[in-house]
Amino acid sequence: MSRQFFVGGNFKMNPNSVAEKKVLTTLLNQAELDSSVEVVVSPPSLYLIPLKEILRPEIKVAAQNCYFKDSGAFTGEISPPQLKDAGIPYVILGHSERRTLFHETSEIVAQKTKAALASGLSVILCIGETLEQRESEQTTAVCSAQLQAAVDILSEGDWSKIVIAYEPVWAIGTGKVATSKQAQDTHADIRAFLTKAVSPAVAAATRIIYGGSVNKGNCVELSKQPDVDGFLVGGASLKPEFVDIINATK
Ligand code: G3P
Repeated sequence: MSRQFFVGGNFKMNPNSVAEKKVLTTLLNQAELDSSVEVVVSPPSLYLIPLKEILRPEIKVAAQNCYFKDSGAFTGEISPPQLKDAGIPYVILGHSERRTLFHETSEIVAQKTKAALASGLSVILCIGETLEQRESEQTTAVCSAQLQAAVDILSEGDWSKIVIAYEPVWAIGTGKVATSKQAQDTHADIRAFLTKAVSPAVAAATRIIYGGSVNKGNCVELSKQPDVDGFLVGGASLKPEFVDIINATK
């Protein structure tokens, strides 16, 4: 089954200025990009609407988080309907920084996923293990448990709007990218989990992308792996090499 290659750029809490954002946007608007690749960039919430308004139309934007209630007394939060109303099509949920720094459990991430899908958003659902869990051979169990929380409350049809991002915590921001074998083996395990937990059709159709120290030097080899359907890029998405990563399969 062919799955459209997907490259996301998670800017995290960067860039620090409107001027820097403009430089990045100009680069992306002027670059020659592989038109077969779905490209989604995720700036801080403050820049979502301005970025959407100046980016070339084929590049989509994603929020980096949202709440699981549609409105109410939740200071500091953004609701799925507000993102939908602003024309923001994607939201990243369950990023390891949300799980560790902001104590988001897999159950909370699943509730957010359900609420986002119910509002018509598409979701980049992040999972991944720590170094200790990998070294104790718990990677598959950890990723399966993180996904199971979503499986428990979603319908089979919901998965058509989900891109799974496998991001080993030990590779995020460290420069220690997973080997192609590690990425392929884990992506294959995740797809096998989906086959049993949801359905063979969902497993075949769901894009599973890799994140964690992706750069222009390692993206081509990683992109050749049969179960690697794209990337979620952090640091390198703020640099000109993000264009090379988008074009990795060209
Ligand atoms: O969401 C993507 C991010 O966690 C990966 O960060 O800087 O290792 O590419 P980085």
